[in-house]
Amino acid sequence: MKAARFYDNKDIRIEDIDEPTAGAGEVLIKVAWCGICGTDLHEYLDGPIFCPTHSTPHPISGETAPVTMGHEFSGVVEALGEGVTDLEVGDHVVVEPYIVRDDVETGPGNKDYHLSKDMNFIGLAGRGGGLAEKIAVKRRWVHKISKDIPLDEAALIEPLTVGYHAVERAGGVKDGDVALVGGAGPIGLLTAAVLKAQGATVIMSELSSLRRQKALDAGVADYALSPAKVDVVEEVKKLTDGRGADVAFECTSVNVVLDTLFDAIKPQGVIVVVSIWGKPAQLDMQKLVLKEVDLRGTIAYVNNHPDTIKLVESGKINLKPFITGKIALENLIDEGFDTLINRNETAVKILVTTDPERLENAH
Ligand SMILES: NC(=O)c1ccc[n+]([C@@H]2O[C@H](COP(=O)([O-])OP(=O)(O)OC[C@H]3O[C@@H](n4cnc5c(N)ncnc54)[C@H](O)[C@@H]3O)[C@@H](O)[C@H]2O)c1
Ligand SMILES: [Zn+2]
Repeated sequence: MKAARFYDNKDIRIEDIDEPTAGAGEVLIKVAWCGICGTDLHEYLDGPIFCPTHSTPHPISGETAPVTMGHEFSGVVEALGEGVTDLEVGDHVVVEPYIVRDDVETGPGNKDYHLSKDMNFIGLAGRGGGLAEKIAVKRRWVHKISKDIPLDEAALIEPLTVGYHAVERAGGVKDGDVALVGGAGPIGLLTAAVLKAQGATVIMSELSSLRRQKALDAGVADYALSPAKVDVVEEVKKLTDGRGADVAFECTSVNVVLDTLFDAIKPQGVIVVVSIWGKPAQLDMQKLVLKEVDLRGTIAYVNNHPDTIKLVESGKINLKPFITGKIALENLIDEGFDTLINRNETAVKILVTTDPERLENAH
């Protein structure tokens, strides 16, 4: 089968590899669509970061480069391994792409398996990936979805779940809460989608006019502000009777955005940092102390897929507006990565498939 495999930075190859089979306790999935994520671009430009090198195997998967990429995917169950009795061939599924040690507790209610030692991701550190025709995944990480959710939209459930967990980290929102989101890239937009679905009024700050427009058109932002044109802090104060935002989400990894969130948050408000930082940030600690602000991190998700899937199934979130391109696996680098690296304003999620029929129907 065809697969996109990470060898090293600037070296991802589309190759023919053996098809996986469903081992005991595993589910064989025929991939429908797989999204390209900012993390994939980081691996391509500066990696290996999450991916293993040629010489050092990942401590859990045991794999070295090359590894198959792709962690944001949907698909159809093709076969069930021994002992898997609660799914059927033909079911539509998404994958929570974790690689964690076998002795880590991951049952319902567990809230820290995502922080376990050497945790990594399917599609980055081994165990196959969604940028391939098929993948075999342990039953625990496979989530069945309603056939009412189109499989292209379902590929966005993984990054949407990042947003879901970020909102959970903020302590949730209730009707009428005002949320400020810094950055309207895929992660900011999908976090905003969860906030809107849960009843918040969403203010986004974003430099790109195309992305501000996307946030408004998709209905995930009530206000989309340009920090180059308006004083975002003043605008937030105006919209909240001088109080400030109840919760704020940093989705840019840009220091001035973090500063803005500190000025725009209400006393005792919560700021969640979603972005990944390549270098230390500066923080005016007085702003945290004098307003008793809670500053919290969030990474990926933990037992959030079922609730996120329910939110999509309920129709409260429409993922379609965030699909901005569909390409064949062969064009992963020259169309997909190239667009996201050089013209990223024009794109949110580019989906990849190995199935010519799906691509045909998409156009
Ligand atoms: N915590 C997690 O689990 C998790 C998961 C996935 C991604 N991430 C991280 O989330 C971050 C966002 O990801 P993304 O894919 O949306 O990235 P992105 O680069 O597409 O989006 C960032 C957005 O911020 C905007 N921006 C830049 N400077 C700004 C400023 N001064 N004011 C307002 N907006 C500004 C950019 O125009 C861009 O639209 C990245 O750091 C990514 O690594 C975190
Ligand atoms: Zn991702």
